[in-house]
Amino acid sequence: MQIEYKRLAPEDNEKLVDFLMSSQWPFHASVPEPDAIRQRVASGVYDDADNRTFWLLADGERAGLIRLTDLTDPTPMFDLRISSKWRGRGLGKAAVRWLTEYLFNEFPEIRRVEGQTRGDNAAMRAVFRACGYIKEAHYREAWPSPDGSVHACIAYAILRHDWATGTTTPLVWDDEPVRT
Ligand SMILES: CC(C)(COP(=O)(O)OP(=O)(O)OC[C@H]1O[C@@H](n2cnc3c(N)ncnc32)[C@H](O)[C@@H]1OP(=O)(O)O)[C@@H](O)C(=O)NCCC(=O)NCCS
Repeated sequence: MQIEYKRLAPEDNEKLVDFLMSSQWPFHASVPEPDAIRQRVASGVYDDADNRTFWLLADGERAGLIRLTDLTDPTPMFDLRISSKWRGRGLGKAAVRWLTEYLFNEFPEIRRVEGQTRGDNAAMRAVFRACGYIKEAHYREAWPSPDGSVHACIAYAILRHDWATGTTTPLVWDDEPVRT
């Protein structure tokens, strides 16, 4: 399979609507609606100083969408969507490896990249682990869903020096100060 990454162009707006409307996104906080997508595009959330969006093309087909966010912050974040048809074929892992490299190369000052997902999104959590991201936070009852259920939000991050050296620095959880 040939994988390419291409920045979202202004003329891609209706392709973006088609992409978002043609799959189910059960782990996202809202269900997409065409006019709301168009409004979000116009407001700049897909491409402005703080955001950049890329297609993941698999054998020339629009198989995934990578939205990089918080680009003016010390810790950029991202949203990743692989269309239903292409899930489970390694594209999620390829996308996270690519975007991590892109962010560290494009923004030399950043020390870390962070991503968050719903607690029951087993595939995304597997992708984070496979790509060297470490779980850093477990926000209980922080993720309301359109069906009324409430889930945990799990945050993962990778450090520049771990990415550069191919290591994973473990996080020490038991760090409560002990009074002596
Ligand atoms: C989550 C998502 C990005 C993963 O991409 P993908 O291309 O399907 O994932 P990959 O094929 O690269 O890898 C999936 C990993 O999850 C595992 N996995 C898949 N479904 C799983 C499940 N239901 N339970 C546990 N693990 C699962 C796979 O075994 C694989 O792990 P492995 O390499 O250890 O075997 C994709 O499924 C998607 O876009 N889903 C809908 C949108 C979404 O949830 N985005 C995340 C927002 S943060």
